[in-house]
Formats: sequence, structure tokens, C-alpha cells
Amino acid sequence: MMKKIKIALIPGDGIGPEVVEQGVKVLHAIERMDQGLSFTFETFPWGCEYYLEKGIMMDANGIDLLQKFDAIYLGAVGYPGVPDHISLWDLLLKIRKSFDQYVNLRPVTLLHPSFTPLKKRSEKDIDMLVIRENSEGEYAGAGEWLFKGKPEEVVLQTGVFSRKGTERIIRFAYEEARKSQRTLTSISKANALNYSMVFWDEVFEEVGKEYPDVTTFSYLVDAASLYFVSDPGRFEVVVTSNLFGDILTDIGAAITGGLGLATGANINPEREFPSMFEPVHGSAPDIAGQGIANPLAAIWSVSQMMDFFDEKEWSEKILATISSIILETDNLTPDLGGKATTNEVGDRFIEILSRAT
Ligand SMILES: NC(=O)c1ccc[n+]([C@@H]2O[C@H](COP(=O)([O-])OP(=O)(O)OC[C@H]3O[C@@H](n4cnc5c(N)ncnc54)[C@H](O)[C@@H]3O)[C@@H](O)[C@H]2O)c1
Repeated sequence: MMKKIKIALIPGDGIGPEVVEQGVKVLHAIERMDQGLSFTFETFPWGCEYYLEKGIMMDANGIDLLQKFDAIYLGAVGYPGVPDHISLWDLLLKIRKSFDQYVNLRPVTLLHPSFTPLKKRSEKDIDMLVIRENSEGEYAGAGEWLFKGKPEEVVLQTGVFSRKGTERIIRFAYEEARKSQRTLTSISKANALNYSMVFWDEVFEEVGKEYPDVTTFSYLVDAASLYFVSDPGRFEVVVTSNLFGDILTDIGAAITGGLGLATGANINPEREFPSMFEPVHGSAPDIAGQGIANPLAAIWSVSQMMDFFDEKEWSEKILATISSIILETDNLTPDLGGKATTNEVGDRFIEILSRAT
């Protein structure tokens, strides 16, 4: 039986369209090699250019339009001239929240020792999966701006940690650790955040009673940031809040080869709504239009997409191909020390992938 996957493309701004094009090329190549899989694509021109033209980041019925897809594949949004909080809240966060994509899966995996700035670290030292809460916490958008512009001005940004939201992300992480037989580390900050993070730690312990087989650790976020750099080998599966996860995974990107190799999936585990796959990097206005953006993070997103649709073999083959191509310096973009264009990396990627099958 042919498995048909409907994908909405939101290439977005800057290098977004350049890298998404390569990911789509990989999906087409998979389709050619696998008689059991077919993809259909529809492109949505939303983003900052759209905003500058029409005053909106996406159509008013955008969420309804996306609802009928199995997955969303996004490049990046954000561009000079449009305030970042508008591009983020009116498109990316709107999709994440409307589709209850409460799990953000960010692999922090070193593929080759030459890509880490850390001395004497190899692939076995840096291989973790960060599970970031993606729907509430510090990014809930709750707060107040009182007495704006007055001397007594007060701004409140409220962290929202519901029992439902906290329990479900922690449970997801325990399940993942159990399934993959890895340890689970919770990262919080209960000493200073005396409501939200005390609650987080309590829920971590409570849910943990159902998973006696999972070995756990708990760190404060400041200590964890230090260990991410000084001793990353101690982390296997990590669960943390929205803000902490955002920051820690950028450290994760820094120790594994930079933003050109970092990916993240926004998952609705119940599959009630489409999940969204995207590279972690932004629209990189400094290199946009030059054809030198590294497409490997966006291609890694395709691997995560295949994993989500239970196409493990393809997911692993894509990762293996990334591991191979990064050994060919000539075929990499300048951020990884090469001279190749985005398009050339995409073409070479497909050559290696096709050879491996
Ligand atoms: N998910 C998203 O859509 C997302 C994420 C982060 C930032 N942004 C937006 O992107 C815009 C630029 O943000 P920024 O400069 O802080 O972050 P950025 O990720 O766009 O760029 C940071 C640096 O990394 C480099 N870089 C990033 N991706 C690369 C790639 N694939 N290949 C080679 N080099 C790459 C850039 O050239 C730049 O020097 C802002 O408007 C920001 O809001 C969007």
C-alpha cells in the first residue's frame, strides 16, 4: 500500500527558501527510490515579505488551510524591517500553539570530531536528545505592561506551568528514555524560580514513580549549561522548559557544528494536528541570496519527519548520508569550511543517498 504524506511548505524569509528547496529535493529523491511512499506539496508564501506587502504574516484562515496537511516543513522567518516579535508570534508561535505542538525535539548529536570546538570530544561524547516544552512556560505570552512610558513603568512576563502541560512533556520524555533505554535528565531552576520550577521538579519526581526502570538526574540550568560544554557525555535524554530548552539547544548547536547543522521538530504526539519540521537557524539575512546557506540542518529536519511517519530506515539513511557528506570538505558550504553552494550540497547529498540504497 502506498503511504501518501501531504506536506505544507512554508519556506519563509532569507535563506529559508534556499534550504527548504534542498529538503524538498531529498523528499523527491526518496519518492523515486521508494515505491511505497509519495509526497504532495503545497507552498504558502507567508513570512516577512508577505507582511510588508499585506500587513499580515499569514492569511487569516491560515491555520484552517494548514489543518488538512500531515506535516508542515518550514524554512525560517524573520527579516530586517519587521519586528522579530511580530514575525515570531504571528506565524511560528501561532502555528505551534494552534496545533498544540507541545513537544520540541532537538537532537544534539556530534557527527564528526572536527565539528566541535571542544577539545578531545568525539561522537560518543556528544549524543543527546533535548525535549523542550513548546507550548507554555516562559513563552506563554502572559503578562502586563503597566504605566507605559511613565517613570513608574512596570513590566510583568509570567511563566505559565499548567499541570497538564508540565505532566505531558515530562511523561513524553520518560517514555522516550524508556523506549531508547537511555538516562533522563531534567533541567530546571527551583532555587530561584520558587513556584514554577519547584512545581516542575515535583512533577518530574511524581511521574518518575511510574518509570522505575529509567535512571534520572536533575540539574539547575546554570550547572547544566556548564556541563553541556565541560562534560556533555553525561546527558542522554534531556527534558526542560521552553526558555531553558531554547538557550541550551543553541549551546548544543555550538558544540556540534553550529546552526547549519541544528534541527528541531515541533510535534503534536497525538497526531490530532500536523507537526512542523524546521531547522533551528533563522533567516540569516547576512548571507541570504548568495546561495551559500548550509542546507544540512533543513535536510536533517526531513530525517526527523521520516522518523515521525515511522519511516525509520529513511530517517537513518539521511543521517548516515549527512555523516558521509561532512567528510567531503569540498562539497560543503563555507560555514563548514567548504566552497560549495547550497544547491551543490543538495545535489551531492542525493548522489550519496542514492548510492547507499
Ligand atoms: N525558526 C526561525 O524561523 C528563526 C530562528 C532564529 C531566528 N530567526 C530570525 O532570523 C533572523 C536572523 O536572526 P539571527 O541572525 O539571530 O540568527 P540566524 O540563525 O539567522 O543567523 C545567525 C548566524 O548563523 C549563520 N547561519 C544561520 N544559518 C545558517 C546556515 N544554514 N548556513 C550558514 N550559516 C548560517 C548566519 O549567517 C548568521 O551569521 C531574525 O529575524 C530572527 O528573528 C528565525
